[in-house]
Amino acid sequence: MIVQGFLVFWKNSHFDVLPTFRAGKGNAMGNRMRIAINTGGGDAPGLNAVIEAVVMSAWYRNWEVYGIRQGYHGLLDTDDIIQLTPDKVRNISSVGGTILGTTNKGNPFEMPFENGAGEVEIRDVSDRVVRNFQRLGFDCLIAVGGDGSLKIAHDFFKKGIPVIGVPKTIDNDMVGTVATFGFDTAVSIATEAIDRLHSTAKSHDRVMVVEVMGRHAGWIALNSGVSGGARAILIPEIPFDIDVVCEQIMKDELQGTRYAIVVAAEGAKSVGGDIVHRGDGEKGRQDVLLGGIGNVVAEAISKKTGKDTRSLVLGHLQRGGSPTTFDRLLALRFGAAAVRLVEAKQFGRMVALNPPNIDAVLLEEVVGSFRTVPLESDTLQTARDIGISFGEPAADQ
Ligand code: F6P
Repeated sequence: MIVQGFLVFWKNSHFDVLPTFRAGKGNAMGNRMRIAINTGGGDAPGLNAVIEAVVMSAWYRNWEVYGIRQGYHGLLDTDDIIQLTPDKVRNISSVGGTILGTTNKGNPFEMPFENGAGEVEIRDVSDRVVRNFQRLGFDCLIAVGGDGSLKIAHDFFKKGIPVIGVPKTIDNDMVGTVATFGFDTAVSIATEAIDRLHSTAKSHDRVMVVEVMGRHAGWIALNSGVSGGARAILIPEIPFDIDVVCEQIMKDELQGTRYAIVVAAEGAKSVGGDIVHRGDGEKGRQDVLLGGIGNVVAEAISKKTGKDTRSLVLGHLQRGGSPTTFDRLLALRFGAAAVRLVEAKQFGRMVALNPPNIDAVLLEEVVGSFRTVPLESDTLQTARDIGISFGEPAADQ
């Protein structure tokens, strides 16, 4: 008994890992909440800022926060759940990535396993997650993720886990919020890259095709393309005709501008064509891994115009490094608002930017769909007004 008591004391005083012996709801001891937090899907600059805000907001309420590693994996194998205290999160808001790790391959409702015969079997291990969550005495889960991870969070909410969602994605395609953190950083990085390409494109009289991320939405391409002075922007919302893009480039040439920057969203496709993706994707991955359109477009432009053409893929550079001030602040606000929702016991909701406020929207109303660039968008109109082409075929064709 005495030895056991000492072990409990020792574990608590070296509180790096979760003491799994502590069962029951923290809430039963008054209002002291015991919050679990995870980050899922692709990383986005600002994730650490959410974690910092959640931990600090909880700390000042005398609550506990535990970090779950690698999305939902940490609730399947609970060995390295860590208690997050102020010393662990101080000033991480400026650091990119996530201290908890993340994955876009771990849906506990559809987990791939190799069976003995070398085949992949899909199993539902969500009950194990729920059991572990309850055994560890958590009162709620703050799930930080994009549409995929928040759909999983909502499925766990339906299974009885009190969940608060925090939206993140560089793609800016979450329904229910005006913006997600990570997007502003991605656009800033892409714009800077386009700015830099102007001088080299101009020196060589070249066409440079820049492929940017964004999945099936053109937000990053549109905002960076307009800000960076692209000649043409190809986005999933407007199927393009490569001949229209080439005509634009050749018209410019006749008027003395011998170079051009074309920005292609990874999800862009030609009229009647298909999106370009990488093979069959990766094992256990829910979404298709897009990529390759930049090269396809560059080759077509080179062939049709005879111009020296190069393509580059900005890729994960768009997700790396420090969040911009906008993203950092939005992420901190989301984290603090999530804790306020926990306090108000408003579970099954997602925090959302509705300027000037952070609101809460029901998860069931936002998961399962995504937000694309509206065709009446003012930024689209601005682009057209200043002569940027979207490669749209003429109306009478
Ligand atoms: O959703 C964020 C995102 O960066 C997309 O823009 C991109 O298509 C995808 O993730 C890339 O995924 P991964 O990091 O697995 O290569």
